[in-house]
Amino acid sequence: MELKEAIGNRRSMRFLLPHKPVEREKIQKMLEAARLSSFWGNVQALKAVVVERATAPQEVIDAIPPGSAIGGFQFGLAPVLIIWYLDWSMLDVQGDRLHELTDAGAAGVDKEGSHRYLDSNLIPFFKAAMPSIREGGITEMDCGQGIAQATLVAYEEGLGTCLLGLPAQKKLRRAINLPEDTKILVVQTVGYPAESPDAGGQRPRQPFEEKYFLNSCDESFPRDPEVVEGLKRDKMIQAQAPLPWRFDELEYLSKALGIPPLFGEETESITVEMMAEMSESE
Ligand SMILES: Cc1cc2nc3c(=O)[nH]c(=O)nc-3n(C[C@H](O)[C@H](O)[C@H](O)COP(=O)(O)O)c2cc1C
Repeated sequence: MELKEAIGNRRSMRFLLPHKPVEREKIQKMLEAARLSSFWGNVQALKAVVVERATAPQEVIDAIPPGSAIGGFQFGLAPVLIIWYLDWSMLDVQGDRLHELTDAGAAGVDKEGSHRYLDSNLIPFFKAAMPSIREGGITEMDCGQGIAQATLVAYEEGLGTCLLGLPAQKKLRRAINLPEDTKILVVQTVGYPAESPDAGGQRPRQPFEEKYFLNSCDESFPRDPEVVEGLKRDKMIQAQAPLPWRFDELEYLSKALGIPPLFGEETESITVEMMAEMSESE
């Protein structure tokens, strides 16, 4: 599958085949893609714990939440869950990463001079700026780039995934032995899709002209219809949801997989439990 088609096909897939295991090599390919993604200062703070339902200890299975923020029956269906987390301690050794970049010829023309300049100027600057960098969101954003690359590989490999926020994470953190100074960003459910590959069609997006601008926010970036047509031919832009038979498919899936027909209904009963865990002290 071409990259453009993988982008077009990447739709959150909530309905997975619970009985069909995912080959480890496919999960490895996702992790390899995340590892290669770009990161400010080459910090590489995105890490992950893969929970394989077939091999995980019972304690870990028991700690998988019964739902997420608004939906989340997928937690119960997915043969694999990738717990993507941010390791803040990687920011403490950012200077080492900058020296590596210099050695790799990715920063600075004069190698020896650049190493000296890093030690005398840039690394102290970054250290001083670290509290505001930590709060600024750029680190989380770069983690998102890695997760996005892994997601595209998953679709290329014929898998379906969905990202789910995890408001209550203390139990899971303890079960997977997550180090301190880390933050679970999102849990990605991974498996073979139970729904058709188009998953009902392209989900709604805000109009291009209202999101992208040229030179200032006063003028929309011109959207060339010929480019749009080319992207349709390349299958990056696909038919809008809902495809005519989508709601019949959903009804079929909900019966086959025992999913409640109201979106989010399954999380309602666990909200109290979730709130209690959120307010629990470490
Ligand atoms: C970072 C992130 C977190 C998400 N968290 C949740 C969640 O907690 N619960 C949920 O039901 N869907 C969650 N989603 C799924 C979105 O709601 C989903 O992207 C949306 O339904 C549109 O589907 P699409 O990805 O096919 O465009 C999350 C998506 C992202 C990217």
